[in-house]
Amino acid sequence: MKVSAIIPAAGSGERFGEEKQFKLLSGRPLFFHTLKLFLQSDYIDEIIVAVPSANVGSTHRDVLSMSAGKPVKVVAGGTRRQDSVKNGIDVSASDSTLVCIHDAARPFVTEDLIQRSISACEFADGAVVGIPSKDTVKFSENGLVKETLDREKIWLAQTPQCFHKNKLLQALYYAETKNLTGTDESALMEAMGFSIKLVEGDSNNFKITTKDDWIRADIVAVRQAQGTVL
Ligand code: CTP
Ligand code: MG
Repeated sequence: MKVSAIIPAAGSGERFGEEKQFKLLSGRPLFFHTLKLFLQSDYIDEIIVAVPSANVGSTHRDVLSMSAGKPVKVVAGGTRRQDSVKNGIDVSASDSTLVCIHDAARPFVTEDLIQRSISACEFADGAVVGIPSKDTVKFSENGLVKETLDREKIWLAQTPQCFHKNKLLQALYYAETKNLTGTDESALMEAMGFSIKLVEGDSNNFKITTKDDWIRADIVAVRQAQGTVL
């Protein structure tokens, strides 16, 4: 089984205030940290990074310096995250059967999460890393609580999200024909009725969305360098 990792890094960082994927964390662009873990992973055969079209050339030059024998391709992303992912799949090796999608903005993914999300695809159409909700979740409409959801059933989705490539392509095609936009690829797979397994994630695998998250990432990066991460 051949696995293609897709790292969407083509967002505009609206909530962050800049293209966070290129901001330096411990002296290296954010997406480098994420890419490095996939380069080191024993479970990944090739990597495709999707970046804004203006950054394709410079990113390609940068990754050449670190690719350590594993094939890395750089493509232009699209308007929506799912478009960036689709552009990545389009250049993936024709004999890869699984895709493992991971946000560039989650630089603290672990080899264990990559391995467990890939393994979980053996008995399902896909697998998503998530963490069980610690808080009670309210479903709201117009600022009023409509319903309190059963916390035992609530998971907060992270990445990696791994899928059988042929099924994800079907889901992306279906989304295109039905004009569906998902905040993640799992939502598009779910809309097709595919089975998606949940894999317990890690609180350090948080996504850098706002400046507050950057402060946390800076702390985790320093602690990792000191070997004192919890
Ligand atoms: N992403 C992408 N292509 C897009 C949109 C998002 O590749 N058209 C990537 C981002 O670069 C990021 C990941 O998807 O690594 C998760 O997205 P998010 O945190 O929402 O990043 P942005 O879309 O950049 O941020 P915002 O939504 O605040 O604009
Ligand atoms: Mg976004």
